[in-house]
Amino acid sequence: MPEYETHDFDVIVIGAGGAGLRAAIEANAKGLRTALVCKSLLGKAHTVMAEGGVAAALGNVYPEDNWEVHFRDTMRGGKMLNNWRMAQLHAQEAPDRVRELEEWGALFDRTKDGLILQRDFGGHRYARLAHVGDRTGLEMIRTLQQKAVADGVEVFMEVKVLRLLRDADGVVSGAVGYWRPSGEFVAFTAKSVVLATGGIGRSWMYTTNSWESTGDGVAMALWAGADAIEMECVQFHPTGMVWPMSVRGLLVTEAVRGDGGVLRNSDGKRFMFDYIPEMFAAETADSEAEGDRWYDDHANNRRPPELLPRDEVARSINSEVKAGRGSPHGGVFLDIASRLSAEDIRRRLPSMYHQFKELAGVDITAEAMEVGPTCHYANGGVRVDADSTATTAPGLFAAGELAGGLHGSNRLGGNSLSDLIVFGRRAGIGAAEFAEGRTGRVTVDEGEVASAISAALAPFERDGGENPYEVHHDLQTTMQDLVGIIRTGSELEEAMGKIEALEERAANVSASGGHQYNPGWNLATDLPSMLTVSRCVAQGALNRKESRGGHTRQDFPRPDPEMGSVNFVQGIPTSTTDTSGAGGTPSVRSITITPVPLPVMPDELMALMELKEAY
Ligand code: FUM
Repeated sequence: MPEYETHDFDVIVIGAGGAGLRAAIEANAKGLRTALVCKSLLGKAHTVMAEGGVAAALGNVYPEDNWEVHFRDTMRGGKMLNNWRMAQLHAQEAPDRVRELEEWGALFDRTKDGLILQRDFGGHRYARLAHVGDRTGLEMIRTLQQKAVADGVEVFMEVKVLRLLRDADGVVSGAVGYWRPSGEFVAFTAKSVVLATGGIGRSWMYTTNSWESTGDGVAMALWAGADAIEMECVQFHPTGMVWPMSVRGLLVTEAVRGDGGVLRNSDGKRFMFDYIPEMFAAETADSEAEGDRWYDDHANNRRPPELLPRDEVARSINSEVKAGRGSPHGGVFLDIASRLSAEDIRRRLPSMYHQFKELAGVDITAEAMEVGPTCHYANGGVRVDADSTATTAPGLFAAGELAGGLHGSNRLGGNSLSDLIVFGRRAGIGAAEFAEGRTGRVTVDEGEVASAISAALAPFERDGGENPYEVHHDLQTTMQDLVGIIRTGSELEEAMGKIEALEERAANVSASGGHQYNPGWNLATDLPSMLTVSRCVAQGALNRKESRGGHTRQDFPRPDPEMGSVNFVQGIPTSTTDTSGAGGTPSVRSITITPVPLPVMPDELMALMELKEAY
């Protein structure tokens, strides 16, 4: 076996997006030796793709806003599949976390009175998103990374983590991976581990997600004995670019609609008025005049239908395209040009202005954008305890997009950034407390290190194996075509079979060349995670025989109260000795699924669902 370097810490945090950075800051502040390990360069995390703002009931624009209304909106947006305790903590703590970012140097846009400005987003009753133009995620990452580095968190950049490591008692005690620049191996031991690796979107063909989002955290958690929930609830953001093909899927921020943008079909009709669900009818405008008045004068109280929750808008766009009323390249039109002055567009949406100008040759101050749904976010993920973020694997904590529960079946825009800072902090506290309570020297199973390293190197030793890019391409086609925005039982069965076949192919891929920055090899080592999470999504979707939030079944088009009362919990038995999956991991066939009743919401919170402002 090749030599490998080792490092010992109290806490390691894997993933350096908003949640990982926030967790590391907190664990480090408790006096624990803390390392942050990330696959990309520090500052390049996918958090930057949450552009439009961070949701927090600060009450700066609408003093009547408060955590209770935010809680209610979040639960209702998630179609009540959310973990109520996570939704409560999130709504209560988000304002303090945003103010803390400001103290640490984040430069939010301002109201006339100098308070943090808040903008409208879908499903939020009040203008609630603190923002920095349309570059909010970027500002958050910049602020948090500066704080983490200044506070002394040790950073290991460009390390691809392959596997978590456990001690003889099965407690998570570290991780093993390799440096992408050199291809050399590295192992970490730690008293506790926080996973914050983000999303799973690279398994789909069209996605807002960057190359890092291969589901590593969810997969590694499952392999180490943790559970996942609601993996079927994948969010398709309504507005991604559809043209040119080279950038299909790239995010077009919801801030465009929040700031007045409207959706039109090929007949020029504002079609969203035809798709207002009963649940939101009382507060959604049913005429253009009413909807437009809302932008000028929110007191009118009837929100435009473009600001319905994302699942509703994405499905409506899909229906228009299917009915033959789409744009030339298979989307619909998003028009901000006729709604705001050119100067306002450039000031409020600078990234969108440049993105369309540079990539599509479209001037959004004069022309409509072509947009369509794109895979954006995993609403489900690793199952955690709401207060501590502890997973069901001892020693392992999880926060951010890879953790499930907060968002139920559909996340409201802007709730991702607040999720990162609220539960990132809580993960830092949870992991620190666990580490403090753990006595003795931490050891790991050397056999686990050896098997992870030899499985990672196997593609170099295999002559004539398949190209990892072909396997990845076929996985993306499978997920896009069969586990996309609208699903059917027969297609999901087909996807399950295809994923099993892809797993066999992935177990036989070859890599050539050296170990340094070898993208083919890097992809070969990402495939096991992508296959594991893809199987979870397909299996969850097959079992959830209803339509709810981001999960739509053509063969079960209505919500089913019985299905809506359970989480689908997935796991791999810790007793498994199966290593027949790609990269020596347990086969996707070993993933189990069980319906588990949702935690019961206390009466005082249930009463908030009846708030007068709600309906
Ligand atoms: O549309 C957006 O700016 C994305 C934000 C989010 O996903 O929260």
